[in-house]
Amino acid sequence: MIGNKIEDLQKRKQKITEGGGQKRIEKQHQSGKLTARERINLLMDEDSFVEMDAFVQHRCSQFGMEETEAPAEGVITGYGTVNGRLVYVFAQDFTVLGGSLGEMHAKKICKVLDMAVKVGAPVVGINDSGGARIQEGVDALSGYGSIFYRNTIASGVIPQISVIMGPCAGGAVYSPALTDFVFMVDKTSQMFITGPQVIKAVTGEDVSSEQLGGAMTHNSISGVAHFMSPSEQQCIEDIKVLLGYLPSNNMESPPVYEGTDDINRIEEALNDIVPDNPNKPYDMKEVIRLIVDNGEFFEVQAYYAQNIITGFARMNGRSIGIIANQPKVLAGCLDINASDKAGRFIRTCDAFNIPVLNIVDVPGFLPGTNQEYGGIIRHGAKMLYAYSEATVPKVTLVTRKAYGGAYLAMCSKDLGADVVLAWPSAEIAVMGPEGAANIIFRKDIETSDDPIVTRQQKIEDYKDRFANPYVAASRGFVDDVIIPSTSRQRIISALDMLWGKRETRPSKKHGNLPV
Ligand code: HXC
Repeated sequence: MIGNKIEDLQKRKQKITEGGGQKRIEKQHQSGKLTARERINLLMDEDSFVEMDAFVQHRCSQFGMEETEAPAEGVITGYGTVNGRLVYVFAQDFTVLGGSLGEMHAKKICKVLDMAVKVGAPVVGINDSGGARIQEGVDALSGYGSIFYRNTIASGVIPQISVIMGPCAGGAVYSPALTDFVFMVDKTSQMFITGPQVIKAVTGEDVSSEQLGGAMTHNSISGVAHFMSPSEQQCIEDIKVLLGYLPSNNMESPPVYEGTDDINRIEEALNDIVPDNPNKPYDMKEVIRLIVDNGEFFEVQAYYAQNIITGFARMNGRSIGIIANQPKVLAGCLDINASDKAGRFIRTCDAFNIPVLNIVDVPGFLPGTNQEYGGIIRHGAKMLYAYSEATVPKVTLVTRKAYGGAYLAMCSKDLGADVVLAWPSAEIAVMGPEGAANIIFRKDIETSDDPIVTRQQKIEDYKDRFANPYVAASRGFVDDVIIPSTSRQRIISALDMLWGKRETRPSKKHGNLPV
């Protein structure tokens, strides 16, 4: 008797595992995509995945839905381990009603989110869906609403990672947007609020779905996505790497790995990396690679606002977040997009107890009407806010320029940097020598017999007096001026010293981040 029941159970489970059937699975493969179950199997450690709610069914009886079976309700949910650490997952199954989201589909996702928050472990959500299940009407909308609500409650408590591996349209895009990181796969994933047809009808614009909402668009133009992978397999590998830098929740520290790189490594190349000519660029990524453990830098938003670099690395085996100006792009100026990118990244690090290292070579905020009309004031304020608010260890290294408001916005001492180090090539002042000489010595220059020579003299004079780190060091705004080749050693020493840092703030409901 029980044997029959077990057989019946196995049959039921087998049927659910087949999803939308062989034909639709083949179509999924032909379009360059894996199925939901294949994706989960690649993500999770072997045999670690435990499925939840496989028997859940929809309750819709409209438009023939009473006759329609939807195995696993079009979304596979559960938990398992990634590199030995607990991770929750949901993966929409496009072979079942196009992965569309109805009432019960949403309930499955909500259950996973609730459990992840209770237990304190990351959630990876794999999106591949035609959006709200049209037959379910407002029940589907309510489902989305309940997910958005949970994404928000879980924000800053557990890492939430969204993976786009197919269509993600309409309001459905807002769940990924509420999470910490968005991964996209080149050519097979799209995100948009309104698709090409609606855009054509409303504005007359002709745009393909790839151009409108493909991976490159969201990685390089909109800044909605953080990572782009050439294939689903690579994307899943990238997710595993990211998880390795993050703690399981906000009450824990990120995992510590045994350091395999000499903490006292001296890098002579750093002594010559800053060109003598202050207008000449150099590659800040090279500086980062020479400083961090084994040269490994996991860049976040690599294609967006490239005038600022954000990403994770390790120092003596511990995760850090790096925010660095890139002199190779826009001379490293801060603009609207760079401020948004950095502000968000700083808050992500702070939420998850990841110390930040700020590497500064910034001539200022980018001038122009585009920037002013676009609200550089409120966007730039996000960096000031995020750094001031952050209580994780904050270490700042000034390699060259640190001028004006941008000097402050890159985490100066006053914004709470715990340790500020500077190379001898650092120039910390209100503005660059040329601009400064033009203003404070204007009369001297205008009334001199040879204004060109006088101007040059005044510039040199200003440079000698202020374009160095020693004035700032004399006030204690810089803790030490260091030989560049010793940077790794000094930064590790600072981070190790700060490891136990605790900082409390006045209690409040929440701050009012400028948005
Ligand atoms: C129910 C859906 C569906 C949906 C797709 N399907 N989307 N079923 N509700 N939203 C079903 C199809 O009927 C089909 O069923 C199967 O999924 C695969 O779809 P195809 O069209 O055959 O696939 P493809 O050609 O690859 O096209 C994929 C697609 C297209 C581009 C996603 O299906 C599409 O445009 N769907 C509608 C998208 C949409 O407008 N959704 C609502 C967005 S508004 P069979 O049985 O034939 O396999 C929204 C609001 C959210 O989401 C608001 C939140 C606040």
